[in-house]
Amino acid sequence: MRLDKFLAHTGYGTRKSVKELIKGKKVTVNESVIREGKTHVQPEKDVISVSGERVHYQEFFYFMLHKPQGVISATEDKVHKTVIDLLNHQDQLSNPFPVGRLDKDTEGLLLITNDGVLAHELLSPRKEVDKCYEAIIEGIVGEKEIKAFEQSVMLDDGFVCRPAKLSVLSTSPADQTSKIQVIIHEGKFHQVKRMFEAVEKKVQYLKRLSMGPLVLDESLKTGHYRPLTANEIAELKAFTK
Ligand code: URA
Repeated sequence: MRLDKFLAHTGYGTRKSVKELIKGKKVTVNESVIREGKTHVQPEKDVISVSGERVHYQEFFYFMLHKPQGVISATEDKVHKTVIDLLNHQDQLSNPFPVGRLDKDTEGLLLITNDGVLAHELLSPRKEVDKCYEAIIEGIVGEKEIKAFEQSVMLDDGFVCRPAKLSVLSTSPADQTSKIQVIIHEGKFHQVKRMFEAVEKKVQYLKRLSMGPLVLDESLKTGHYRPLTANEIAELKAFTK
């Protein structure tokens, strides 16, 4: 990787300001002053310092976002705000992306990373990673829907979902809504909404609580994010191995 690109990615400003640091003889690689931004470096091996301070290299970044409604699960969009826009500038430098999609009006757990291998494993249909959602449903959900989900729901395009565990948390006969939790094993487009449509019910509100071993940290306010803990990363890696 080029030295100037590496420094820009590790937060030393734009390529232009990095160029100035290099010109000002502030940058050393393995204790030699480097004068050319295009110098090739191997960040995992080389000792790169700016003004005598070692620049630490981190290849992969993992963030847990409590996605709010109204932002889209994409890296860029001309019209809508994306989940990446919610990260601060420094955290956007490693080109992170969301692992899978939540609808614009869905909130909850979203993993954001630049680790393509881990993302691929988590999204692989072969892995059938459990995803747990909480939802408010229009109408009263009961045994009929629980059984239908248990016996496999067929979506509008003929796709047959794996048996899903539906639990009714509470019902409100006054406003004719039900609060439910459902665990699904696939990641089809609008899957939870379409599963409820298949049993003639409508999702009013949807929130993802977990994905595989990763559980939404409820102390994270909507729209906020934090790096995964070492333990959470280790669990995800063990799970996707
Ligand atoms: N199922 C949906 O219908 N929407 C989501 O955002 C996630 C799962």
